[in-house]
Amino acid sequence: MEWGMKNRLSQLIQKDGKALFLPIDHGYFQGPTRCLEKPGETIKPIYQYADAIMCTRGVLRNCIDPAINKPVIMRVSGAVTVVGEDLANENLVTGIREILRLNVSAVSMSVFIGTKYERQSLSNLAKLVDQCEDYGVPVMAVTAVGRELEKREARYLALCCRVAAEIGARVVKTYYCKEKFEKVVEGCPVPVVIAGGPKTETQQETFDFVYDGMQKGAVGVNLGRNIWQTEHPVAAIRGIRAIIHEGCNPKEANELYEQVIAGKA
Ligand code: 5RP
Repeated sequence: MEWGMKNRLSQLIQKDGKALFLPIDHGYFQGPTRCLEKPGETIKPIYQYADAIMCTRGVLRNCIDPAINKPVIMRVSGAVTVVGEDLANENLVTGIREILRLNVSAVSMSVFIGTKYERQSLSNLAKLVDQCEDYGVPVMAVTAVGRELEKREARYLALCCRVAAEIGARVVKTYYCKEKFEKVVEGCPVPVVIAGGPKTETQQETFDFVYDGMQKGAVGVNLGRNIWQTEHPVAAIRGIRAIIHEGCNPKEANELYEQVIAGKA
């Protein structure tokens, strides 16, 4: 692996081998999602606890201070919306010149395996990997399910992660599943990060699945709504960070969460 690629990956996955990515890219297909109406404001109190921010070029250019001292993972797929026909019908929405111009540390795009757009999204992943590898930019593939949340089980996720890595993704982001998540990670030759999904009912549930996913081999998370849509985003991200980088269990993370809310930590 060349120096540039290694350097960028080391900005994302920290020295302890773990990573906490903070995605605020939801507007690319959902519009002004709740709590993300002003993405620059949303991340102000919490970004310092993340290892990288994930967003589109529009949010990057318009809402993020260029002097920010955080690596950026730029989403480069889109062109569909929640009011359109099919969320799986994504395309690449920018290319390598813009990726380099914006000086991002990595790019991400979704693949929709098992849909009628499987071939399109996987071919786009291959094209993106070809462009980015030339310049040492890592591609993170997102194994997306659109509205079909029930697809999130180990056999399907393992297939998606493996295929994305085979095509050349340097990191894969996928959903956590309670049963056999270790099989998803074991079958994937590149680091796996866990996506969040819709907000959980309690904070404890988030701490539980993050912890379990890490125990089963994930290197970290790419967690959005379960941080910035919660009642206490700073306490939430600090609890998650404690699991990822400080070896805390869910109970300890929850204790820290309560202490932060009480102003004691
Ligand atoms: C949207 C994305 C998001 O980055 C991803 O879903 C993570 O955010 P959340 O934790 O809110 O699900 O890729 O397609």
